Amino acid sequence: MADSVRQDTPLYGRVLIRLTKPFPNFDFSFIKPIRRKAVASLSLPQGGRVLDVGCGPGGSFPFLVEAVGPQGKVVGIEISPLHSELAADRIAANGWTNVEVITKPAKDAALEGSFDGLLMFAAPDVYGSETELSNLIPHLTPGARVAAFGAKLAAGGFGRLLNPIIRALYKLSFSTTPPPSLEPWQTLSGHFEDLEITEYFFGLMFLITGKRRADN
Ligand SMILES: C[S@@+](CC[C@H](N)C(=O)[O-])C[C@H]1O[C@@H](n2cnc3c(N)ncnc32)[C@H](O)[C@@H]1O
Repeated sequence: MADSVRQDTPLYGRVLIRLTKPFPNFDFSFIKPIRRKAVASLSLPQGGRVLDVGCGPGGSFPFLVEAVGPQGKVVGIEISPLHSELAADRIAANGWTNVEVITKPAKDAALEGSFDGLLMFAAPDVYGSETELSNLIPHLTPGARVAAFGAKLAAGGFGRLLNPIIRALYKLSFSTTPPPSLEPWQTLSGHFEDLEITEYFFGLMFLITGKRRADN
C-alpha cells in the first residue's frame, strides 16, 4: 500500500472500508436521525448547491440529494482516496448524476461557484481548522447555513466518566486531528452566527448549526 494512502486513511478507516466495501449504502442506523437533523438545519432550497466536506463514504448523500432535488448539486470533498472510492460506489449504486466527489484535502479543493450550505459531519480535521475552512467559507453564499457534528468531551455527569474513551479514539485518528475538547466548535464560532448546539450521547457528541456571518 502506498505511503500516501496510509497517511490519508488512518488504520481504523482502512478496516472499516474493507468491512463495508460490499455494501455501498451502508450507514450506522443510530446516526441516521442526526444526519437527517443536520441536513434539515441547512434549509437547502430545491435546486441548491451544498458542500459535504470530509464526506467519507457518503453517508449523508441520500439526505443531501433529497434536500436539493434533481436540479441541485452535492459536492463532497474527501482527503482519502479509499473513502472516495466508497463514495463513488454509493453514487453509482444510486444512479445519482448530481453528486461529485473531489479527492483532496479541503484546503486544496478547487471549488467553482457558490454553495447554499456546508456540512461537516464527523470531520473535526475540517471544522476545527482555520486553514481548511479558509478555502470553503469564501464559496458560501451570504447567509449560507452550516452544520457540523462530532465528538467532544463531556463537562459532567456520566459522560465525564467516558471522556477517556473519546481521548483514546482520538489517538487512532490523523496526527493533525485537533484533540477533543469541551467546545470543539470554537473555530466555527468565529465565522458563523445564530449558533445552536445540541449534545448527544451523555454530552460526548454535538451537533452545531448556524449561518455564515454577515461580516465574514
Ligand atoms: C469520521 S469520517 C466521517 C465521514 C462522513 N462525513 C460520515 O459522516 O460518514 C471523517 C472523514 O473526513 C476525512 N478528512 C479528514 N481530514 C480531511 C481534510 N482535511 N479534508 C477533507 N477530508 C478530510 C477523512 O478521510 C474521513 O473520511
